[in-house]
Amino acid sequence: MSIKALKGFKDIVPGEVETWQFIEKTARDIFHRFDLAEIKVPILEKTELFTRSIGETTDIVEKEMYTFIDRNGSSLTMRPEGTAPVLRAYIENGLHAARAVQKLYTIGPMFRHERPQKGRLRQFHQMSVEVLGSDHPRVDAELMAMAWLIMTELGLTASLEINSLGCPQCRPAFNAALLAFLHHAENLCDDCQRRRETNPLRVLDCKSTHCQEQYRQAPSFLDFLCPGCTDHFSEVIDGLALLAIPYKVNSFMVRGLDYYTRTTFELVTGDLGAQSAVGAGGRYDGLVKQLGGPDVPGIGFAMGMERLALLLAQQEKAAAAPALDLFVVALGTAAQQKGFALTHALRRAGLTASMDYQDRSLKNQMKQAGKAAARYALIMGDTELASGSAMLRNMAGSEQAPCAIAADADEWAKELAEKYLK
Ligand code: HAM
Repeated sequence: MSIKALKGFKDIVPGEVETWQFIEKTARDIFHRFDLAEIKVPILEKTELFTRSIGETTDIVEKEMYTFIDRNGSSLTMRPEGTAPVLRAYIENGLHAARAVQKLYTIGPMFRHERPQKGRLRQFHQMSVEVLGSDHPRVDAELMAMAWLIMTELGLTASLEINSLGCPQCRPAFNAALLAFLHHAENLCDDCQRRRETNPLRVLDCKSTHCQEQYRQAPSFLDFLCPGCTDHFSEVIDGLALLAIPYKVNSFMVRGLDYYTRTTFELVTGDLGAQSAVGAGGRYDGLVKQLGGPDVPGIGFAMGMERLALLLAQQEKAAAAPALDLFVVALGTAAQQKGFALTHALRRAGLTASMDYQDRSLKNQMKQAGKAAARYALIMGDTELASGSAMLRNMAGSEQAPCAIAADADEWAKELAEKYLK
């Protein structure tokens, strides 16, 4: 029996991968325009990095991490998200000293042991941004505008929902009000009953519909913001207005990770079934310090690449494979040799070229040229070699014309490039 991929782990095969490349290229280009630098961080980290940042009582840490003891007896975790590893790298590499405001992005796989469904995988990919060193509300607005621009340039739409989760100064009053509310809530699920004691804010993140119905009456964080957080939130809103980014305040949004302070946001869509968020993020002003670094504020967001690819495919905006410039159709040993040298010369000249080595029939090789979406097919067999000119066929229009065979492969490639393949 053949070995299958793990549940929730997906191959991205040719035909799909072009859409992924389009997403990544679009995002990288936009990141560059916003003066971001790329950072690459490991997939495996010490478990403690995630328990300390995401929070012991979150779903991710309690239920979803791929954690194991390695051969040295250390507890390691396959990263469930990118923020904690990027912050660890920022601290460890002294990046705060290099630039007062570090603007970083990373792209790569994340791992969560969730129940797989449409748009939800166990290995998924995020493009994420972290800006460290500024608590200015314009940065919050700028990041939302960046996520918005990525959606726009991909040809997708979503709505932006924003909230503020306050700071350590306003949280005690909110927690007290929430606890008082939860005291009267009935038939909460086991998780919520437990979290009510350990981490009350987390209950609002519960996925049970019964719990969620009751939480609609829960106190809103926005009513408990301290003056500093109130000002920050209204300046974020002003910033969004200046950039003409439409948004909706959603005071129920709590996010599934404990590190957030002040602004949180999500880009949501109704087109992904149960998974509505294509991107999400927020501010985490105390996190760098909590992880042993300097006391610098931070904010970031991540976009789920599977969800973006799904949206593009659903809207029939999937990207096509790039066309091949030329497919060399060679019949017979001598033509195969000549074609082999020409194909490589074409590649050296910067063109995309391919050929078949199995000496298959003309019909079969032409079929391959069609499948490769070649712009031209260069056809030659013994007769063409003897006459000194091959046949160049324009695959789109099907017209063909003879073209002289040069003795030198590089010269021939150059001539083909200049005359026909520009
Ligand atoms: P998150 O909300 O857990 O935030 O994930 C961000 C995005 O990753 C989601 O909106 C979704 O598009 C995608 N995503 C999450 N889980 C899955 C899954 N199982 N399958 C497919 N896609 C998924 C974070 O991870 C934060 N680190 C974001 C952030 C960066 N906050 C500040 N900086």
